[in-house]
Amino acid sequence: MKQPSNGVLRTPHAYPQSALPPGVQPLARPVPLVKAQSLAFLMFEKPDLAACENFLTDFGLQTVERTAERLLMRGSGPQACIYMARRGRRARYLGAAFSVAGEAELALLETRIGARRLPAGAIPGGGSGVELTDPAGNVLWLICGQRAPAPLPLRAPLLADTNCYGQLRRVNRTVRPPMEPAAVAKLGHVVLQTVDFAGMADWYMRHLGLIPTDVQYLADGSPNLAFFRLDLGDTPADHHSFVLAGGIEEKYEHSAYEVVDLDALGQGQNVLRANGHRHMWGIGRHVLGSQLFDYWCDPDGMEFEHYTDGDVFTASHETHYVPLELSGIWAWGHDVPASMGVKRDLGTLVKIVRLLRQGRLSLARLQLLGRAMSAPRPWL
Ligand SMILES: [Fe+2]
Repeated sequence: MKQPSNGVLRTPHAYPQSALPPGVQPLARPVPLVKAQSLAFLMFEKPDLAACENFLTDFGLQTVERTAERLLMRGSGPQACIYMARRGRRARYLGAAFSVAGEAELALLETRIGARRLPAGAIPGGGSGVELTDPAGNVLWLICGQRAPAPLPLRAPLLADTNCYGQLRRVNRTVRPPMEPAAVAKLGHVVLQTVDFAGMADWYMRHLGLIPTDVQYLADGSPNLAFFRLDLGDTPADHHSFVLAGGIEEKYEHSAYEVVDLDALGQGQNVLRANGHRHMWGIGRHVLGSQLFDYWCDPDGMEFEHYTDGDVFTASHETHYVPLELSGIWAWGHDVPASMGVKRDLGTLVKIVRLLRQGRLSLARLQLLGRAMSAPRPWL
């Protein structure tokens, strides 16, 4: 077999925490206050709820409620709501809601750290909860007792009918996936950029009991990006339900929604294209998490990802460490779009100068970040 001549056609090596290379710093894990059981829903502020509903319907979500002030959308799974938007002046991410086991967890958060009790009726689908604010100003709801509506019909995966070389499963039959939006089954994860990676990582692990599945580190060995999964013990959990990426601003990066299989992903892309929505990136396969992905922009330019075929791990799976570089982002598919990287404009320069003056970013760290994201693609 022909070998790549320049020796860089590769995926990055992942080191288990028990065998870290010299100089790579493990991500310290605090003792958690509670262990979240699921990522329940995300909260946004949006100036045009009708436009959001239109996009999300084509994206494969179902409307639960739309009033002049509030939009609730669900997937086909047994969750009352996976997306909640309130009408407001700006398009922005407000925060996330995670479920916990019960009232005991909520009471502990109230007494130990002064979590604020949510008013009655605040949670779609009912139940009770408390609110916290993370160090970047995003809200975090911890909730329990939400009603679980009956799941909506979802077509069966086509995998059992897939013909592979040497494995014929479909004879005298055809493949005709329906032309329809990629029905979203569930909310998978949310990704945030933060200036204070170490502080935010500690805060979210402490308040949700998250386990770092894969940690990416800069050339000086310091962690700068982490994919966190829920601690569900022996029950497999998605490779990540929450991701933090160190950067130069506090920012919602994207949220991701699981669809049933690759044909749903592809057919969903056709529907979104046909209805004039803005495509961003895909279809491709990620390296860390392994998902097949397709990224879209909502009417305000906020990113929403369809995915399928992601990795799952139980709590005993060891944390792995991977150098931070572009090759860790995707295994195949089109190049990462320029919009996903750091903009080289005056606004970015102003942000950097402000962070340097505030002492929240050092020149050395800025150089490390720049070097990580400008490394060549794995197949060049
Ligand atoms: Fe994602």
